[in-house]
Amino acid sequence: MAPNHDSFAGADVLITGGLGFIGSHLARRLVGLGAKVTLVDSLIPEYGGNLFNIEDIRDRVQIELTDVRDANAMSNLIRHRQFLFNLAGQTSHLDSMTDPVTDLNINAAAQLQILEACRLHNRDVKIVFASTRQVYGRPKYLPVDENHPLNPVDVNGINKLAGEWYHLLYNGVYGIRACALRLTNTYGPGMRVKDARQTFLGIWIRQLIEKKPIQIFGNGEQRRDFNFVSDVVDALLRAATNPDADGQIFNLGHAEHVSLKELAKLLVSINGDGRYEMISFPEDRKTIDIGDYYSDCRKIEAQLGWSPQVALRAGLGETLEYYRRFHAHYWP
Ligand SMILES: NC(=O)c1ccc[n+]([C@@H]2O[C@H](COP(=O)([O-])OP(=O)(O)OC[C@H]3O[C@@H](n4cnc5c(N)ncnc54)[C@H](O)[C@@H]3O)[C@@H](O)[C@H]2O)c1
Repeated sequence: MAPNHDSFAGADVLITGGLGFIGSHLARRLVGLGAKVTLVDSLIPEYGGNLFNIEDIRDRVQIELTDVRDANAMSNLIRHRQFLFNLAGQTSHLDSMTDPVTDLNINAAAQLQILEACRLHNRDVKIVFASTRQVYGRPKYLPVDENHPLNPVDVNGINKLAGEWYHLLYNGVYGIRACALRLTNTYGPGMRVKDARQTFLGIWIRQLIEKKPIQIFGNGEQRRDFNFVSDVVDALLRAATNPDADGQIFNLGHAEHVSLKELAKLLVSINGDGRYEMISFPEDRKTIDIGDYYSDCRKIEAQLGWSPQVALRAGLGETLEYYRRFHAHYWP
């Protein structure tokens, strides 16, 4: 099923979190499709936003350095938009445990404020919300489909779940078209790599390029699936334009799932150099680790015609190449 992207030509699009990893790729794609793109981002230093992510399209997008928690500013920014891609988020699971209220304010309360602004000022907007597989917690069965019980193991998972359900509620009650994609580990150029705050894959890439050993927590047997960022952008665009997505939740994921040890070996082999070491699981991470996870993506495939196109080896190769060239823009 080919997606219909004509509706983006000349469309007024707002991306929250637009200077972050996924938001910046989405912005580039939308600019290419002829959309008028505005990026909202707070550029909080610990988070994933980086102006270098949009270096090549900087003169073709509007940038608003605004915090999504600023209800007045968001209320003005939301008016007259045709599409809202709602990607701004506090993404660190560990930080959500040490500073739970900030996570609540960004991932839940601000989302509700944004939806209220839509209800009051722009009911015709179409919203796609970036949710997470973290809402499922430790899988009770694999692969995990959308009917799997919801049992988040950290504050971030709970707040993202609330953020997601506010969107579905406003779709159901007020007819504001909204849907949510539950993303799995997403990787690619521009992902946050400076430290271990966000994903283990990001810091592994940094460790490899710095010629340090990749550190695997535990026995490395946990299995995960990964999406290259262009596939996630494709899913976001399909969800935005297909009316069948309204009021729906969709898993993203990949049929190719690997153990962390296999992933480390693959990275070392693509890099042509490097090594990994196993270290004991830090206690604060162990308590919120979800173990094995991979998705069942048959729903989005059947309803929106989406399936991931990029194989892990190819995507990792492109990502490593990017950070070899541009690492100075991502860590000191
Ligand atoms: N990357 C993944 O593996 C993954 C997995 C599951 C879900 N997600 C979700 O996808 C979305 C995008 O993730 P990403 O990987 O691009 O992360 P990212 O950190 O690169 O991007 C998020 C952006 O949001 C911005 N932001 C954070 N708080 C903000 C605030 N209060 N006001 C304005 N801007 C703010 C950050 O500055 C950053 O640029 C997030 O909502 C995340 O929860 C990502």
